[in-house]
Amino acid sequence: MSLDFETIYASNKFANPRLQPPRRAKYDFAVAYADPNSIPNAEILMCLEEALLDYGSELAIYTHTQGNTNLREYLVNKLSHNRDIQVTPDEIILGNGSAEIIDMVCDILLDPHDIVLTDQWVYGGTLKTLRKKMTDIRGVESDEEGMVPELLEQSIKKIIKEGKRPKLLYLIPTFQNPQGFTITSARREKILEITNKYNIPILEDDCYADNRYDGTQVTSFFNLDAEDSVIYVGSFSKIIGPGMALGYMTAPSSVLDMIMNVKRGRVSDFTAMTVEKYANRFLDEHILKINHIQKKRRDSMLSALGENFGTSARWSNPDGGLYIWLELPQGCDVQKLVEKSLNQIDVGFHPGTDYSPDPTKGHNFMRLCYGYNDTEEISTGISKLAEFLSKEEII
Ligand SMILES: Cc1ncc(COP(=O)(O)O)c(C=O)c1O
Repeated sequence: MSLDFETIYASNKFANPRLQPPRRAKYDFAVAYADPNSIPNAEILMCLEEALLDYGSELAIYTHTQGNTNLREYLVNKLSHNRDIQVTPDEIILGNGSAEIIDMVCDILLDPHDIVLTDQWVYGGTLKTLRKKMTDIRGVESDEEGMVPELLEQSIKKIIKEGKRPKLLYLIPTFQNPQGFTITSARREKILEITNKYNIPILEDDCYADNRYDGTQVTSFFNLDAEDSVIYVGSFSKIIGPGMALGYMTAPSSVLDMIMNVKRGRVSDFTAMTVEKYANRFLDEHILKINHIQKKRRDSMLSALGENFGTSARWSNPDGGLYIWLELPQGCDVQKLVEKSLNQIDVGFHPGTDYSPDPTKGHNFMRLCYGYNDTEEISTGISKLAEFLSKEEII
């Protein structure tokens, strides 16, 4: 007889375990992979050698608890230059990817049943974390400029009427995952006015800020905030690769202290010292290169959508990031078609339900990631998808 874990699992076990597709498709529009051919292996190898020659003996000791000092120094310059964020190395903490940092931030802020405000459609990894904490997640609607401030305030007032208070606003303000929009700076200011009025901190998840191909950079919430209410998180996953598993944060100092109280894992000094060498020498150039590639892939997906979906669907038109958010006719259910699409046409996508705080919603949406396949594959994959959806009588 085997032990029945169903009777033992904690009550916060995740309600919707199907976050990853069961297997990779040839036309993989599901998961946000970097372009495999753009991973700068030769430069990384060179930097690894340099890092080991310069600092290899330091691998014998436990690294600084906030993470590699040289990499934090690099990040001070990067944040100042790209995100108008002025901090010192002591105000930066490294993590094993930004997901770990988001998890720690939720650990220090949230108790079960606390209310967290997010976008109406939001990154599934964070939803998973929030569900694990047994929080009450409330989605707020957005338009192409991001979360609508008036709707945010309405939602806050409704929560206050219920005798509760929202504990946190989680935002991906730049190239939102999955919707692709960037919140304009005017709107960022309005949102901050509201959150400051109601004493709600913002968790600014900015991991796509460097992946811009069009338009001009919009300053960070962290920079606009005058009330020390923003916690900022970034990552190397979208500018080198998720395999680096390296993220970082900065926040008001009392928050950083609390994070250090809950932080258990160490960030690999081996990775951090290599990335520091790489980033100082090559990263800016590499970002230009990958953005050039991703822009072409985005354009290829947009034109394939136009040619194959015409007016039977609507989709976002992002200035950067990795995703297009596709809205199909109301009443259809693409969640049911994930497996069939993999098996019949080798096309992977994520259904909108994976991004919905309310798991009963999102059936007629899908997220399409254009980071992995080349332009020709994207074009073929989208045409296969359209044909498939047409056979399924969805479009
Ligand atoms: C919005 C957002 N935040 C965080 C993450 C996690 O990134 P990391 O690889 O740094 O843990 C992702 C990954 O796709 C993401 O899209």
